[in-house]
Amino acid sequence: MSDKLIIFDTTLRDGEQSPGASMTKDEKVRIAKALERMKVDVIEAGFPIASPGDFDAVQAVARSVKDSTICGLARALDRDIDRAGEALKEANSSRIHTFIATSPIHMQMKLRMSPDEVVAQAVSAVKRARQFTDDVEFSAEDAGRSEIDFLCRIFEAVIEAGATTLNVPDTVGYNLPEQFGTTIHQLREKMPNADKAIFSVHCHNDLGLAVANSLSAVVNGARQVECTINGLGERAGNASLEEVVMAVKTRKDLFSCTTDIDTSHIVPTSRLVSGITGFAVQPNKAIVGANAFAHESGIHQDGVLKHRETYEIMRAEDVGWSANRMVLGKHSGRNAFKTRLTELGIDFDSDEALNEAFSRFKELADKKHEIYDEDLQALVTEANLDSIVNERFKLASLKVCSETGETPEACITLSVDGEEHKLCAQGSGPVDATFKAIESIAQSGTELQLYSVNNITSGTDSQGEVTVRLEKGGRIVNGQGADTDIVIASAKAYLNGLNKILLPEDRAHPQAADV
Ligand code: KIV
Ligand code: ZN
Repeated sequence: MSDKLIIFDTTLRDGEQSPGASMTKDEKVRIAKALERMKVDVIEAGFPIASPGDFDAVQAVARSVKDSTICGLARALDRDIDRAGEALKEANSSRIHTFIATSPIHMQMKLRMSPDEVVAQAVSAVKRARQFTDDVEFSAEDAGRSEIDFLCRIFEAVIEAGATTLNVPDTVGYNLPEQFGTTIHQLREKMPNADKAIFSVHCHNDLGLAVANSLSAVVNGARQVECTINGLGERAGNASLEEVVMAVKTRKDLFSCTTDIDTSHIVPTSRLVSGITGFAVQPNKAIVGANAFAHESGIHQDGVLKHRETYEIMRAEDVGWSANRMVLGKHSGRNAFKTRLTELGIDFDSDEALNEAFSRFKELADKKHEIYDEDLQALVTEANLDSIVNERFKLASLKVCSETGETPEACITLSVDGEEHKLCAQGSGPVDATFKAIESIAQSGTELQLYSVNNITSGTDSQGEVTVRLEKGGRIVNGQGADTDIVIASAKAYLNGLNKILLPEDRAHPQAADV
């Protein structure tokens, strides 16, 4: 059996199915480039049939990434497969990932198809996908609740039809590690042609077991794990890439395989994804949480100072943590700025984009004398957020008054479709007053579901990074903004959310039942 574990990242597809985590085409390309730098083997870039926007994003990723295989998702339907094949046409290396549900409950209640019909449709989908690429993955959706004999039957048939990877998803996160490992073991034992394809797993985290289930599958012979940065994904998310990769690396004594991942890119990529999606990483999250390598108790600190391995099983620098460093300041020039961004893996498509980012950097350096890597990342994320097409609302100016014993008031001037509107409103605090003033102008009818502020670096001169979650008619988006003034950061985040929620959305969901 191969000693290489293939890392298949689905941040741009399943990750994007987290409510509010939708990404623009440019954001997807930036994340895909970061994944390529990290040496991810396969990047699932999206679900091309879902909408013209998804198609364009998969196509753009296929054009920009050269070293990773680019994958597009397709239900087991001719039209889905043709669309995926078209979107992937320009990829250096492409994969079509087609799927159909195989559990009794999904076949009867969702698809209303007999098992024979499901097998026939899977076979025909794989054959069609092979007309576009030799690299075809077949997923048995809800495999975690499917009958083992039926899984063997359908997998044997799709191998004959040309599938090269067989994916076993625990779609609803129902399995326990031993049980899931046994499923992989049994499939490999029972299927006569098991050695003709790679077994893959795709675990959801509904019971908090996605990583444990994936690792148990690897011990039992799976050689591809599907995962996402920060564990993003539908509902409770998918297995987190950083946890799977670091478990296999740290416990190499227990695994007979290794990954090709350059782990030093893990933390910067986690930050990039969190900044773009607005999904903050909890401080105690393994590997990428702010506290993952922080020792609070005196006994631990003493031990680590004497001999690091007393309490540390991994080195922070191996996963890309660098001490907060002052990298640039007010007097730094364009070259130093560009060089540092290149070191952080951030490139610009044009001189214009570089100039725009550089002038933002100068503005920030006037307010905040020490600029850290985290500041640069936030600044570039913000410059990208502002480049959203159809940006209807822009902040022109904001003045807030907050005084003991007085009701806070915010006076805001917004540019709406190029026309200036000014309004003052009162609220229970300066942020509340600001949001009320924006809403009185925008009349958007959105509901604020979440408001959170994080400091980007330490110190009271740090930039505050604000995330808001807005809901309108069942649609949810996240908005972000960063500034050394958290009321301005809040206004930027709210406007960013409004600009996103007003974009048309016509996407299908991959698990929709119109087979
Ligand atoms: O969770 C799931 O079953 C999926 C499939 C499309 C692989 O995301
Ligand atoms: Zn999934």
